[in-house]
Amino acid sequence: MTYGKITSEIVDQLVGICGAEFVSTERELLVEYGHDETEDLSFPPEVLVKPNTPDQISQIFHLANDHKIPVTPIGARTGLSGGSLSIHGGIGLAMERFDKIISIDEKNLQVVVEPGVITQVMQEAVAEKGLYYAPDPSSKGSCFIGGNLAENSGGPRAVKYGVTKDFVLNLEVVLPSGEIIWTGANTLKNSTGYNITQLMVGSEGTLGVITKAVLKLIPLPKQNITLLVPFSSAEEACKAVSAIFRAGVIPSALEFLERDAIDWTLKFVGSIDGAQIPLNDDVAAHLLIEVDGNDQEQLFGECEVINEVLTEYGAGEIMFAESEAQKEALWYIRRRVGEAVKSNSVYKEEDTVVPRYELPKLLAGVKQIGDKYGFKSVCYGHAGDGNLHINIIKGDLTEEVWETELPKGIREIFELTVSLGGTISGEHGIGYVQKNYMDIAFQPASLLLMKGIKGLFDPNGILNPSKVLV
Ligand code: LAC
Ligand code: ZN
Repeated sequence: MTYGKITSEIVDQLVGICGAEFVSTERELLVEYGHDETEDLSFPPEVLVKPNTPDQISQIFHLANDHKIPVTPIGARTGLSGGSLSIHGGIGLAMERFDKIISIDEKNLQVVVEPGVITQVMQEAVAEKGLYYAPDPSSKGSCFIGGNLAENSGGPRAVKYGVTKDFVLNLEVVLPSGEIIWTGANTLKNSTGYNITQLMVGSEGTLGVITKAVLKLIPLPKQNITLLVPFSSAEEACKAVSAIFRAGVIPSALEFLERDAIDWTLKFVGSIDGAQIPLNDDVAAHLLIEVDGNDQEQLFGECEVINEVLTEYGAGEIMFAESEAQKEALWYIRRRVGEAVKSNSVYKEEDTVVPRYELPKLLAGVKQIGDKYGFKSVCYGHAGDGNLHINIIKGDLTEEVWETELPKGIREIFELTVSLGGTISGEHGIGYVQKNYMDIAFQPASLLLMKGIKGLFDPNGILNPSKVLV
């Protein structure tokens, strides 16, 4: 596909739509908006616009269709699959001025929010009213709800409460045609027609631009207990994960961290009060576990059950977080793992997910494939969901091995994942960096359906091109 270029006439028209203050071709700014948290990729747009109404976005789409100019929605740029990169230049559609929490409906337990609201800001606003929005990606302090919707983000609490899609009731969307629609209804149940709401969630900004979201809330759990558990065998730690559920407990978080993940993060963040984590030589991995609810006695009971299971799998001495500060310190460390690993080396991050019981096989297989191709990996993630983040470390690998051999190793990891009943991304999305592997996860007929859907929504291919599908 050849796209039109941005001319000064088009810039003038964008100024007419958004106002001069919100249109820029300044190189430095374009470069800033041309990357996210995905490796070191850089794809700046040719012009950056910052609309603040659905109608402005609609007008931008009309202009883009007329001139075949690509439009790339850009949120907080915390994405891990390159979804917000302006691969073909064109218009970068920064969503940061859609930053309002429109209403919190305490009668129906719902919130209406614009996509440029930071996830944690919204969580705190509803928590003040005793309400809970559970999805909590590690970047919650800086990511936008819009990006979470686009990628169907998860995070540690997903294991008990579900991922972003499970909290979405209704969306206002500007379609690439410029039409503005609501996708569903503000109801908990809905079996009316095709589910466009859920088609939009996780579509990675390729089918439309979300401008409002009606999200479900639940009562805020009042109590929680957090424990950190060392293991001398990473595989045994992974085996313990599914056993906890089989023993009848659903933790509100069940995270796995290989030793390097915690070790590197402790070095990266420096000393934190409450985070004096003993790391004896024989520690190979940790599970970070949280249970929550409203009844302390019940939580103690659940911890006892967990303790019994962990003992069976050879766990070391359990560290219970004794204060809110200590809990916060543990979670702070957990949230910084990605960043810490990245600060160590050039890397590639895979976001594999398998049925929970298969997790030990996935971990063992990843290490075998690493041995075969000569790469080191640091693994961590949402073990309770069977969701393993695999950070492949470049270390001393030559450029040639990194560029030509590694993709073969990644392909083997994904094939293993799918053979275990899993898939190639649990919560980071396909975006730009994983689209060449979609044939592993889907049959040709499914891929054709997806292409058909994309073509129906966006016949000119102007919205976020070169993402998700090859
Ligand atoms: C995490 C992000 C990388 O789990 O998904 O920290
Ligand atoms: Zn994650």
